[in-house]
Amino acid sequence: MQDIYSIYHQKLTTPEEAVAKIPRKCNVSFGLGPSNPPALLASLAERVDAGDVDKIDLYYQIAKDGAKPLFKAKYLDHLRFHANFMTDLDRELIQEAGTSSVIDFMPCYLWQLPRVLLEFINIDVFMITVSPMDKHGYFSLGTSCDYASTLVRQCKTTIVEVNENMPRVFGENLIHVSEVDSIVENHTPLLELEERPLSAKDVSIGAKITEMVPDGACLQFGIGGIPNAVAKSLTNHKDLGIHTEMLTTSVVDLHEAGAITNHKKNIHRFKSVFALCWGTRKLYDFIDDNPSVESYPCSHINDPSVIQRNDNVVSVNSIIEIDLMGQVNSEYIAGHEFSGVGGQRDFMSGAFRSKGGMSFLAFYSTAKNDQVSKIVPRLTGIVTDSRMEPMWVVTEYGMTNLKGKTNSERALALIELAAPQFRQDLLNQAKKIGLIR
Ligand code: COA
Repeated sequence: MQDIYSIYHQKLTTPEEAVAKIPRKCNVSFGLGPSNPPALLASLAERVDAGDVDKIDLYYQIAKDGAKPLFKAKYLDHLRFHANFMTDLDRELIQEAGTSSVIDFMPCYLWQLPRVLLEFINIDVFMITVSPMDKHGYFSLGTSCDYASTLVRQCKTTIVEVNENMPRVFGENLIHVSEVDSIVENHTPLLELEERPLSAKDVSIGAKITEMVPDGACLQFGIGGIPNAVAKSLTNHKDLGIHTEMLTTSVVDLHEAGAITNHKKNIHRFKSVFALCWGTRKLYDFIDDNPSVESYPCSHINDPSVIQRNDNVVSVNSIIEIDLMGQVNSEYIAGHEFSGVGGQRDFMSGAFRSKGGMSFLAFYSTAKNDQVSKIVPRLTGIVTDSRMEPMWVVTEYGMTNLKGKTNSERALALIELAAPQFRQDLLNQAKKIGLIR
C-alpha cells in the first residue's frame, strides 16, 4: 500500500487547479463558519469571473468571511445561493441585489440536513477547511462535523483546504487522505465569534433559568447572546454534561470552573459532544486534541431520539417573536429570512422526551430600542416552532411554562412577560381575536 505522505503529495495542488475539477454545472456545498475554505472559494469566484461556470447551485449554512468573494450580485447569472442558515453575508447580497429572492432559502431541520443534501439534492462537490494530516493519514474536520462529515465521505468530489489553525477533534470527525480528491494548503487565522458583554437583562434572564437547572443536567445552548449568558451563569453547578449542536466559548469557562464532568450522561459519557463549533481562539485551542470533546454529525447530535437518551436535558434557545398562542418565529424579520431554524426545534423536541428534560426559549421582551414587542398578538411571518412545542418561555419580566396551558392561559401568561408599555394593547388584541373574554 502506498504510504500516506506520497498520497498527500500526489493530491496536493493549487486552489486554481483544485476548483478546475468542479463541473461547469453542478451542486456544490462547503463547510460552515470557521470551516468556510477561503482559498478554494476565492478561486471559484475567479472561475466565474473568467466565464468558466455555467450554473452552480451552492448549498450552505453560515457563509462568513471565507465565502465573501462569491457573494456578489455580478455572479447571480452563474451562481444560485441556497442558504439553510443565513448571516450578514446573505443579507448584504440581498441589499446589493435589491431583492430577497437572490437567496433561495432551503428550509430543513438540522437533524435531517445530511440526508437531504446527499439523497435529495445530490451534492456533487464538497469543499472544507481541515486540520493538517496526522501520522496515521487522517485530517480532522475540526469545528465542523454537522453535515460535513457525511458529504466529505459520500459526495462525488471532495476538496480539502489544510489549515494548521484548524483544531484536531475526535469523534466522527476524521477523514483519511485516501478519501479526498484534492488537497490545498492555506494557513489563515480561523473565523472567530466574539462574545458580546453581558447586559443587565442577560443576567436577569440567566439567573431565572439557572435556578431551574439541576446539577447533572445535560445542556444544549443555541446561537445568540442569551444562551451564552445562561451558560456563563452555570459555573457553580456540578456534574453538568454537554450534548449540543453548537459549541461556544462559554462552555470552556464551564469546563475550567469544573462544572462539566459529563459523568451523569447516559450516552457519550465523560465527553462533551457537539455538531459544530464557533467561538474564539480560546475555544479552538480548548477542543484541539482534547480527548474529553468529540463531534458527531447533526443527523446524530440533533436527532430528537438521540437527544432524549440523556436524562435532564436542558435546551436554551432564543427567538425573534412569539405570539399569544405560543407560536414561535426564530428566523424571520421584516418579511424575509434572517437566520434559520438551526437545531432549535430538534432540541426542544428531544428535551421534552428526555426524563426530567426542559426547554427554554429566552429573549428580551423588546427589540429595536424598545420600539417593538417580541410578544405579538399573531405571528406575521413563518412559524419555526408550532404552538405545541414551547415549554418554558423567559423574558426579563419572568417565566412561564406553556405546557398544559389553554389558549387563554397562554395569552395571559405571555402578556405578563411583555414589556409594560405593550401589555394593554396585547390584552386588547387578545380579546379582539377571541383568545380571552
Ligand atoms: N422585530 C424586529 N427586529 C428584531 C426582532 C423583532 N421581533 N427581534 C430581533 N430583532 C433584530 C434585533 O434588533 C437585532 O437587530 P440589529 O442586529 O440591527 O441590532 C437582530 O434582529 C438580532 O437580534 P438579537 O436578539 O440580537 O439576536 P441574537 O444574536 O441574540 O439571535 C436569534 C437571536 C433568534 C436570531 C438566533 O437565536 C437564531 O437565529 N435562532 C434560530 C436558530 C436556533 O435557535 N438555533 C439553535 C441552535 S444553534
